[in-house]
Amino acid sequence: MHSQINFGYGWLWSYGHLALAAVAGAILWLGLARGWRKPWLLLLGALTLWALAAGLIVRFGFDINGRTTLPTERFLASGAGKVLDMGAGTGRSTLMVLEARPQAFVVALDSFSDEYTRHFGNGKAGQPVVDEGRERLLDNLKAAGVEQRASIQPGDMRQMPFEAATFDAIVSAYAIDHLGRIGIRQSLGEAFRVLKPGGQFLLIVIAKDRWLTFTFGPMLMHMRNAGPGFWQNELRAAGFEVVEDGRRPATVFILARKP
Ligand SMILES: C[S@@+](CC[C@H](N)C(=O)[O-])C[C@H]1O[C@@H](n2cnc3c(N)ncnc32)[C@H](O)[C@@H]1O
Repeated sequence: MHSQINFGYGWLWSYGHLALAAVAGAILWLGLARGWRKPWLLLLGALTLWALAAGLIVRFGFDINGRTTLPTERFLASGAGKVLDMGAGTGRSTLMVLEARPQAFVVALDSFSDEYTRHFGNGKAGQPVVDEGRERLLDNLKAAGVEQRASIQPGDMRQMPFEAATFDAIVSAYAIDHLGRIGIRQSLGEAFRVLKPGGQFLLIVIAKDRWLTFTFGPMLMHMRNAGPGFWQNELRAAGFEVVEDGRRPATVFILARKP
C-alpha cells in the first residue's frame, strides 16, 4: 500500500489567504464587540471578504496541490509514445500525462537545484536535493500506480542530457516561465532539438488574468506574466508551429508542433 500523493507546494500557497481571512475576521469580531469606529470596521470587513474570496479561488480554482488534467485532448492523441516532462518537480505534470495517456512513458527531468527547494522546501536535513527530489517524485508515481511508465532524470532543461530527436512529445508546466529570456530561448531550443519531427510540445505557463490579479496582485510575476503572444513568438523563433492555445485560471497553454 503506497502513501498519498503529495505535490509538496507550501501550505501558504493553498491556505495563506484563508488564514488571513480567519485572522482578519477574528479582529473584526473583536472590533464589533468593542464598538470600534466605523472606518476601521469597514476596512477589516473588506479585508476579510477579499481574503475569503481569494482563498476559495486559490484553494478550489488553482488547486496547485491537487491533480490536474490535460488542457487539450489534442496532446498526444495517439495515446502512446515517449514523453519528456521539462521541470517535472514533484510530478504533478508527469502524472497529468501518465493518467490521461495510459500507453505513454514519461521521462521526468528536473534540475533538483535551488529552484526546486524554492518551491518544495528542503525536506530531510542532510539529504542532497537530488536524492530527495527523486524520492518524492518516485513516491508520487508509486502512489498513483504509474511508476513502471516513468523514469526520473536530473538535468538542466537549458542543456539536456538527451540525443536529438529522442521524444515523441514534450510537456512543460510552470517551469520555463521561471527562467529569464536567455534561459527561455535555450530551453525552447533544447525542446526543439530533442523532439522528433512531427512531435508535439505542450507548454503551460503562469499568465496574468483577473483571477491572478485578484488573488495575488503583483506577486507571482513569472516572466512578468507574459501573455500568449510572447510565448507563441518564442516558440516560432525556436522553429515550432503553433497548433492551439488556450487559457485556464492564471494559466496559458500552447500546443506546438515540430515540423
Ligand atoms: C513550479 S515547479 C513545476 C513542477 C511541475 N511541472 C508542476 O506542474 O507542478 C518548477 C520546476 O521547474 C524546475 N526547474 C527550474 N529551472 C529548471 C532548469 N533550468 N532545468 C530543469 N528544471 C528546472 C524546478 O526545479 C521546479 O521543480
